[in-house]
Amino acid sequence: MNIRTKPLSILGSTGSIGTQTLDVVRKFPEHYKIVGLTCNSNIELLKKQIEEFKPELVAVFDEEKADQLKVDIPVYKGMEGLLKVASFGEVHTVINSLVGSIGVLPTVKAIENLKNVALANKETLVTAGEIVMKKLKFHKTNLLPIDSEHSAILQCLQGSKLEDVNKITITCSGGAFKNKTKEELQSLTAADALKHPTWNIGKKITIDCATLMNKGFEVIEAHWIYNLPYSKIDVVMHPQSIIHSLVEFHDHSVIAQLGIPDMRIPIQYALTYPNRLKNESLPKLNLADKKELTFKEPDLERFPCLAMAYDAGIKGGSSPAVMNAANEIAVKYFLQDKIKFTDIPRLIIEQMEKNPLIKNPDLDQILDIDKKVKEDTEKTILNQ
Ligand SMILES: NC(=O)c1ccc[n+]([C@@H]2O[C@H](COP(=O)([O-])OP(=O)(O)OC[C@H]3O[C@@H](n4cnc5c(N)ncnc54)[C@H](OP(=O)(O)O)[C@@H]3O)[C@@H](O)[C@H]2O)c1
Repeated sequence: MNIRTKPLSILGSTGSIGTQTLDVVRKFPEHYKIVGLTCNSNIELLKKQIEEFKPELVAVFDEEKADQLKVDIPVYKGMEGLLKVASFGEVHTVINSLVGSIGVLPTVKAIENLKNVALANKETLVTAGEIVMKKLKFHKTNLLPIDSEHSAILQCLQGSKLEDVNKITITCSGGAFKNKTKEELQSLTAADALKHPTWNIGKKITIDCATLMNKGFEVIEAHWIYNLPYSKIDVVMHPQSIIHSLVEFHDHSVIAQLGIPDMRIPIQYALTYPNRLKNESLPKLNLADKKELTFKEPDLERFPCLAMAYDAGIKGGSSPAVMNAANEIAVKYFLQDKIKFTDIPRLIIEQMEKNPLIKNPDLDQILDIDKKVKEDTEKTILNQ
């Protein structure tokens, strides 16, 4: 297979996706070279990554921590640092595995500097999907999804035309609270939610999985990545997380992608696309081991965030950015046990009702809305 050595930078290299990306890179030293890495504050781990992967530069978002990192390569700080790494040198692909809407500007900057983007950061397309898709088209660069569901759809579409697609179905594990009653949801804590049944993931996304907001994000991302109307994007509950998504074509033939839930598989596909590399360290699926694969409709009454995301996506404009910003703050406070699980959708609805729709926001307007909604949601929580 002819894959040349690709220079890569990873934004958020110390997180769940970042470390798993480095795990894939570690297996293929002849194919990938790490140029830039970033973290928020975990400089201990970043230092180890610098020693192992020998990047040319790093960025630490937290400025104090950046000053504490003593290494013999340039250390940049804050948003400026993230943008420096996102746009640096001859990098072929920037992997964006930041968490939150902080990921929007670095994605845009990478595209403007003609980098391909391997995107794990869901909040980028949820917050600024239209702007990012236009930038990709204008600069003729590619976006490859690092998400099991969107990677599944991409794999199912190989050799087919998008215009032949009838609908796509995104599968959903259901998160930690899938079997809880509406009453039980009132008293569950962050510690309960952090026991995700099938995936080993970062804290924020674990809560997003439990509320089904994560699935709502994926619906909005699929709308942008695959240019499909919301009416052609379904969600089905599939607690075993073996089928990662399905594509139904006009002749009602359905193609699904399966695999053991391990993010290194979609990460590797994003890096090698459209090729594949042999990696014996990735787990193999043995279907005979699986007692059952089950499916059912999502319960939108117990988990209103999924319905909210469809609503926000269909309304478009600034609506998904408002939803995302309120969600980020609500999840932050839920993780600190300062609000209840059921407060998360309540706080989001409140912001969605409060903020008038801006139909075609530009990037500055999106970033302003993000800031304003975050501040206001925080104020509401602290005053209640
Ligand atoms: N985890 C998964 O399986 C998975 C699957 C699909 C998609 N995603 C998406 O991928 C993204 C990353 O998820 P994750 O689970 O890997 O998150 P995570 O484990 O929390 O890692 C987040 C990374 O971003 C850095 N970071 C956090 N806040 C930052 C800030 N304000 N400025 C700069 N850097 C910051 C963190 O640095 P520190 O370590 O220094 O805090 C860390 O490197 C999310 O959008 C998530 O929805 C995740």
